[in-house]
Amino acid sequence: MANYIPALAEVNPDQFGIAIYSNDGTLHTAGDAESEFSIQSISKVFNLILAMQQYGEDIWSRVGHEPSGQPFNSLVQLEYESGIPRNPFINAGALVISDMNYSRIAAPQYAMREFVRRLTGNPNLHYDHAVSDSEFETRARNAAMAYLMQSFGNFHNNVEEVLRYYFNNCSLRMSCVDLVKAFSFLANRGYCRHSDTQILSELDSKKINALMATSGLYDEAGNFAYRVGLPGKSGVGGGIVAIVPDQFSVCVWSPELNAAGNSLAGMSALEILSKRIGWSIF
Ligand code: DON
Repeated sequence: MANYIPALAEVNPDQFGIAIYSNDGTLHTAGDAESEFSIQSISKVFNLILAMQQYGEDIWSRVGHEPSGQPFNSLVQLEYESGIPRNPFINAGALVISDMNYSRIAAPQYAMREFVRRLTGNPNLHYDHAVSDSEFETRARNAAMAYLMQSFGNFHNNVEEVLRYYFNNCSLRMSCVDLVKAFSFLANRGYCRHSDTQILSELDSKKINALMATSGLYDEAGNFAYRVGLPGKSGVGGGIVAIVPDQFSVCVWSPELNAAGNSLAGMSALEILSKRIGWSIF
């Protein structure tokens, strides 16, 4: 369990859910697919898409798109790479993206929640303030990254305020069913069927999938590509979303984590499914 966030240590570990949502609108579920959990780093994809809509390719002057090969909360590369995080999915990268959204979007917290509600088609999604307060109280590592980036000129807003925004995003409570719907446009060339909206261009949607395939599971991205073979994004709440381009989105959730901070049962479930059905982008 993600014990470093005290409020997440209290979740019952003995849970498992899976949902699959096809581009034709068919939904399949099993287990605890409707239970809400803390999406944590899965929110980094929503955060990045909001920034892409604002900044386009200018994003890449402040964050890279290379895998880091380091744990999600590592600081080591930041110092010798002059405050430019390797990618938008490690914590340092997501903090820079949060800073960018904070600069350009009026009421970014509200904008984020409304964006995710629209993507999901569920008007009842909420932040979990018990979780975000708990993370804010134990923020030392994330705060250290943000201040280090500020010292390199790559962080422009008030660090403590941006940390609040970032932690609130991570605390969003969603179920596997919510997440497959929210991510379905990435399986459908940028088009979200249930809201009838082109969320991203086809090209930008491919770019997000490429980033998820190379960096979505941190220092375990290679292992995930090897075992599952799909673009994916995990969170320390135990959720993993994966994309089968032109076919469907899938989400698994089970709270117990492996050493890299990814769901142990979730990884296995996706591996078994991909083998059984022969899914892989490779
Ligand atoms: O900032 C953190 O550490 C968490 N809010 C998010 C980390 C996370 O989910 C990494 N995922 N595997």
